[in-house]
Amino acid sequence: MMRTALLLLASALAAGAADQATIEKGQKEEQRTCLPCHSLRIIHTNRLSRAGWSKELDKMAGWGTKYTDRDALLEYLVATYGDDKPVTPPEMSADGRTKQ
Ligand code: HEC
Repeated sequence: MMRTALLLLASALAAGAADQATIEKGQKEEQRTCLPCHSLRIIHTNRLSRAGWSKELDKMAGWGTKYTDRDALLEYLVATYGDDKPVTPPEMSADGRTKQ
């Protein structure tokens, strides 16, 4: 049973998929570390590769961002706003509704 779970986890990691707990941790880290300076919209409208997000996190660190769980944050960003994800339509307003 445990063995099966571990094997499943291993294959998920091998496929590049982050587990749900890590993604949730990353999302909390985002709220805590990114919101003090700007809205999440500027982040969520981007679609970047893993290397792209990592560079972005280094850039924000250069501007004073302090991470406690950078790994989880990176997994969350790649899993949610990776360059294989559909782009947010530009006409959407901040609340996600189409502007009239
Ligand atoms: C110390 C302040 C600060 C913090 C904290 C911060 N940012 Fe930024 N971020 C900026 C500034 C300044 C800009 C440029 C804003 C602009 O162009 O209007 C920016 C812009 C961005 C952009 C747009 C692309 C770019 O590089 O200009 C992304 C993506 C981004 N931030 C991601 C993040 C993420 C993810 C976090 C949390 C880990 C974060 N930021 C935390 C200051 C910060």
